[in-house]
Amino acid sequence: MSSFWSGWIIVLTVANILGCFWLIWWTMRRRAGEAAQGDVTGHTWDGDLQEYNNPLPRWWLWLFYITLFFGAGYLALYPGLGNFGGVLGWSSTGSQYKAEMEQAAQKYDPIFQQYAAVAVADLASKPEYQEARDMGKRLYLTYCMQCHGSDAGGARGFPNLTDGDWLWGGTPEQIQVSIANGRVAVMPAHAHLGEEKVDILANYVASLAGRSVDAAKVDAGKEAFMTSGCVACHGVDGKGNQILGAPNLTDDIWLYGASMGAIKQTINGGRNGVMPPHQDLLGSDKVHLLTAYIYSLSKS
Ligand code: HEC
Ligand code: HEC
Repeated sequence: MSSFWSGWIIVLTVANILGCFWLIWWTMRRRAGEAAQGDVTGHTWDGDLQEYNNPLPRWWLWLFYITLFFGAGYLALYPGLGNFGGVLGWSSTGSQYKAEMEQAAQKYDPIFQQYAAVAVADLASKPEYQEARDMGKRLYLTYCMQCHGSDAGGARGFPNLTDGDWLWGGTPEQIQVSIANGRVAVMPAHAHLGEEKVDILANYVASLAGRSVDAAKVDAGKEAFMTSGCVACHGVDGKGNQILGAPNLTDDIWLYGASMGAIKQTINGGRNGVMPPHQDLLGSDKVHLLTAYIYSLSKS
């Protein structure tokens, strides 16, 4: 944060706190003078329901003072005022955080480590490793669910991890690489081909997936598919290429939606699915357990 914005935040915060002090002081002062207990404001509802202007009770006002003093004290001790780090020098990533993380690592790392040497296929299938799969599931629910869904069934743009259909491959090694290093898919935009060509291409792609579409468009679309560069990634047969994350277009499983509109949008505008890398965040042992859990999902 630049020192200008830091200063801006400090001035705004301090002005707000002082403003609150003034407001409360003013309210308390007023009480002693003009507004005597039980003044009627003159507002009347339902014939005889009157509004009184009673001062706030003292204890209530004191609560306000206490919160204001607490706020000022907090901002003096802890980070909160712009770039000012607070008198205590505490930080959310400081020594307290490190100590807690180390404590947790000491306790849990051996549990993760005991499975590190077991092959993924065994962890995924053998009954004696149910505990490992449960741990994988808990890790999944913490780190992966927000994108792939609590049942790993995926959503538009986020692949289903429970079916046998893989963008980047379904072997233990390939799944491990997907999780550890992340994946970046590049489907280039093809709007330059023009509306008509995109339309016949979309029809051809839909026909590959076994859907009944305009036969004349399909023939022209096949020609366009072969000559517009699609085959470089999706293959001559449209079955895709796991090295590039190019999906199989013949299986009627759609990452971005099955409608003709969605297919055209993909061809026109391109797509860039990003699976973030997790190696640094989780470490090899947890990635190993997650790989086993994901592998077990697609096998059951
Ligand atoms: C920010 C969202 C996000 C998070 C979090 C995320 N993923 Fe992904 N993941 C994606 C996207 C998007 C793709 C598809 C990338 C593409 O379009 O090729 C993907 C792809 C994958 C693939 C490859 C699927 C295939 O068909 O080849 C695997 C395996 C995977 N994720 C597992 C995980 C696991 C395990 C976690 C938790 C550690 C996780 N993901 C967390 C968004 C996410
Ligand atoms: C450079 C490689 C590349 C080329 C060239 C390419 N694609 Fe793709 N295509 C991809 C990738 C990678 C994806 C997956 C995008 C993602 O996961 O975000 C994709 C996705 C798609 C999808 C969406 C599939 C789904 O499941 O929703 C369609 C449809 C598609 N491509 C059709 C085409 C057509 C038609 C052409 C030729 C005009 C073409 N692609 C050219 C790499 C390519």
